Amino acid sequence: MVRENRKGLRARFQKQVDKLVEAYTASIPFDWKLYPYDIAGSIAHARMLAKQGIISDKEAKTITEGLASIKQEIEQGKFQFKPELEDIHMNIEARLLERVGEVGGKLHTARSRNDQVALSMRLFTKEAIAETLVKLRGFQQALISLAEANKGVVMPGYTHLQPAQPVLLAHHLLAYFEMLQRDIDRFRDCLKRTDVMPLGSGALAGVAYDVDRDFLARELGFSRISQNSMDAVSDRDFVVEYEAAASLTMMHLSRLAEEIILWSSGEFNFIELDEAYATGSSIMPQKKNPDVAELVRGKTGRVYGKLMALLTTLKGLPLAYNRDIQEDKEGLFDTVDTLLSSLEVFTGMVRTLRVKAENTGQAARQGYILATDLADYLVKKGEPFRTAHDIVSRLVSYAMEKGKSFGELSLSEYKDFSPLFGEDVYSITVTSSVAAKDVVGGTAPRQVEQALVTAKKIIGEGES
Ligand code: ARG
Repeated sequence: MVRENRKGLRARFQKQVDKLVEAYTASIPFDWKLYPYDIAGSIAHARMLAKQGIISDKEAKTITEGLASIKQEIEQGKFQFKPELEDIHMNIEARLLERVGEVGGKLHTARSRNDQVALSMRLFTKEAIAETLVKLRGFQQALISLAEANKGVVMPGYTHLQPAQPVLLAHHLLAYFEMLQRDIDRFRDCLKRTDVMPLGSGALAGVAYDVDRDFLARELGFSRISQNSMDAVSDRDFVVEYEAAASLTMMHLSRLAEEIILWSSGEFNFIELDEAYATGSSIMPQKKNPDVAELVRGKTGRVYGKLMALLTTLKGLPLAYNRDIQEDKEGLFDTVDTLLSSLEVFTGMVRTLRVKAENTGQAARQGYILATDLADYLVKKGEPFRTAHDIVSRLVSYAMEKGKSFGELSLSEYKDFSPLFGEDVYSITVTSSVAAKDVVGGTAPRQVEQALVTAKKIIGEGES
């Protein structure tokens, strides 16, 4: 039977396909994953054919029951996938013929593998987006919890990786909340264009039967139907969009991964990773390595790679379907697996890490991190900012030369640089510096508190 089906596609050929060609062209080693979507699509299609009087109700019943039992076979590990049947679609159809006999051959009426595979890919991607959104929300939740548990903690904020101005750790973490929020928006946006039902496009031109495409869309949970059959069977821009959104999310995760790696180093010593999320060294017993963060950073390259691969695959394709398009699958499957597992493990790592507030606070007090605040102080006493910057710049060189911190300089030393300096210069501290950034989006505790309330509201709405 299997061989006969295979021959069905090759009826006009005298020869069997070469074994090498069979192995090279088969997609079953990876597209077997599409079985639930292929079967759901076929069941809806059979019902539609019956509703339209193209096949009888009895035939539709036989077909849909046959498909349901094939699904069970696959789930119980009893199904034998055959590379000579190329892909999941033909594997399932051949098995249907074996199980229900000739009537199974009616399922492929008004359909082609081209619209069939487009449908499976869209159903798969829609589900992947839903799972991705849940994981992104979970990660945002972990960021909020860590920020809340360390509300008053200060740390140096950096530019060029040089200590720049003190900030609240919660403010730093909420920067990632914002990035992730934009990622969520991108996946939701991608969903709108993925949510389009392609059946009825046939091989490329549409089908010569009175099909009900809206019925199919409703049955399969799509909100729209495609408007051009040639486009519907040959474009995979929704896959590109998923991979692009995934690349941006991985880029964001990778930036935080880099910070976690730095912060857990002996040099920074800002955080301690939970033992369950760190590894030891085989020869250096003192080591506790941030491998999870390193792998998230490393796997980012892999996700970018899949995006570039697919863009390149698609760029030269004439309308409509070409076999090149089969290359959409492994990249997408790998991207989804990599993104979901990265989000999951990263969430656990963030949830369990411990912040060493004494160390971040100490680092925030070191050096001349309050130099900008001294300049702001002079500006508030009437000095133009550029002059104030100049004065403080000279003051910093002087203090460095003397080996003194700002707090150790005497008032007369200050006054040598500007008569505007008074006793109140000593009330400039890390705490006052942070509190002064009381602007929407700034690091003042009042603003960060507000940002946390907003973030929790966004999470609480939960319409992910
Ligand atoms: N396995 C194929 C793919 O993934 C299914 C479509 C095959 N269509 C064809 N005309 N050969 O793209």
